[in-house]
Formats: sequence, structure tokens, C-alpha cells
Amino acid sequence: MPPKKRQKHRKYHLHDSGDLKGEIEALFNKKFVLKSREETWTLPDSSSMFQELPFILEDMISLKDELNRKKSSLNDMDIVQWHLHTRRAHKAGLVVKHLRENIHAEMCTQAWTKFHEILSSYDLIPEIARETKKLRSVHLCEAPGAFIASLNHFVKSYHRGLEWDWVANTLNPYYEGHDLTAMLDDDRFVLQTLSHWNFGVDGTGDLMKLANLESLQQDTADVHLVRMIDIHLKPSKS
Ligand SMILES: C[S@@+](CC[C@H](N)C(=O)[O-])C[C@H]1O[C@@H](n2cnc3c(N)ncnc32)[C@H](O)[C@@H]1O
Repeated sequence: MPPKKRQKHRKYHLHDSGDLKGEIEALFNKKFVLKSREETWTLPDSSSMFQELPFILEDMISLKDELNRKKSSLNDMDIVQWHLHTRRAHKAGLVVKHLRENIHAEMCTQAWTKFHEILSSYDLIPEIARETKKLRSVHLCEAPGAFIASLNHFVKSYHRGLEWDWVANTLNPYYEGHDLTAMLDDDRFVLQTLSHWNFGVDGTGDLMKLANLESLQQDTADVHLVRMIDIHLKPSKS
């Protein structure tokens, strides 16, 4: 039998259909407002807890089983094939390529674009930094450093004259005791900017250790912008 001809992936063009444009806009508008500290849901009184008899939600159990079955079918998948598949299924997959080729942004990754979108959508450069023309940012769990590169690009493009300094933390890529599956060991950017990195009192960079967190706090007492922690762990069974 002759080999099956590989189907060409459909190429989308913006003028193809309004649907795609609408879909893209919906994706860009996927924004959520977090509740303020005052509005936050609080636990009910402990005396009202554990009063009901144990119960099982059948629908949820079958959903959970189905999800775990699906996840299990990926166990033996070749990782290269898997990444090929997820790359093809990713609707914004060509954005990074486009930016790399046309903007030549430094360390342009998906994280870079994510932070650029956040910076462009929200007013994150504080008033005080605009007035004093000085900005200090702290970046948590940051390696390989694309958020820093993204902020650099943003500051240089839209806030010329702003004197920017930054401190970053991450699991120390040179500490041999770290579990390689929990850590990103890409040190290309870290190596060139070592004086900006704070690896805590024990040199591990592990922010789960209180002493490291406190030393970072002391080191960054006057910062304006704290980049949210963004740790991607491997998908696990629910
Ligand atoms: C998904 S990466 C962040 C990527 C980053 N946003 C960027 O722009 O390039 C998560 C990082 O968190 C670090 N990390 C994981 N656990 C940590 C911990 N307990 N303390 C400090 N850093 C941690 C990992 O080493 C990894 O570099």
C-alpha cells in the first residue's frame, strides 16, 4: 500500500473568517478580577464542619476516572512526538516565531510574550517610579529569565529615561543538590547577570525555605514591582 499522504495543516489568515478574529479577541479578553482581601471567602465556623454523613458525587468520580484514564494514555508517549503534537495544536504557536524573526527580541519565548501582554494590558509601572524615574523590580522563581528580558524590552520601548534595576531569585542552577525535574538549569542569562541574582542564605535559591525568603525580603525592601511566582510542575493525577 502506498504511504498515506501527510495532510497539510490548514494555514489561518486573519481575513479567512470573522470567527478566528473573534476567537483571538476572546482569548485576549480572558481576564479575571481577583477578590480583594476584604471580599475573600472565609472558612465557615469550625463547629459547622463535618456534620454531614460522607457522600460521593458520582458524576465527579466518573469525570475524575475519565481524566486519569486519558492522562494515563500519555504515559508511554514519546516526549518528542508529544511536544510536536502540542506545538501544532497551539493556536498562538507562530507568535513567538514571528517576534523572533521580526522584532529580534532578546530571549523571546512564550513567557516573554505572556509578560509583554500583561505589561501592555495593565498599568504596572507604578506612579512613584514614573515620578522618580527609577524602577526596581524583583522576580521570583525566574530562571531562565524571559520575564526580565521582556520587562527590559518594555522599559526601553515605552519608558525611555527610566532607570531600571532588578533582583531575581530562582533555584540555583549551580547547586548540585537540586532535583533536575523541579529546576530549570538553563543558565545562559543567569551567568551573564549573576550580581542581580539572590540565592538566599544557603545558596540554594529555594524560596520554600523561610530564611531565604526573609533574606530576599531584606535585599528588596524598596522594590516597586514584584513578579508573581510562576512554577510549572509536571501534570499529575488528580
Ligand atoms: C516556569 S519557570 C519560570 C520561567 C520564567 N517565568 C521566565 O520568564 O523565564 C519556574 C522556575 O521556578 C524555579 N523554582 C521552582 N521551585 C522553586 C523554589 N522552591 N524556589 C525558587 N525557585 C523555584 C524553577 O527552577 C524554574 O526556574
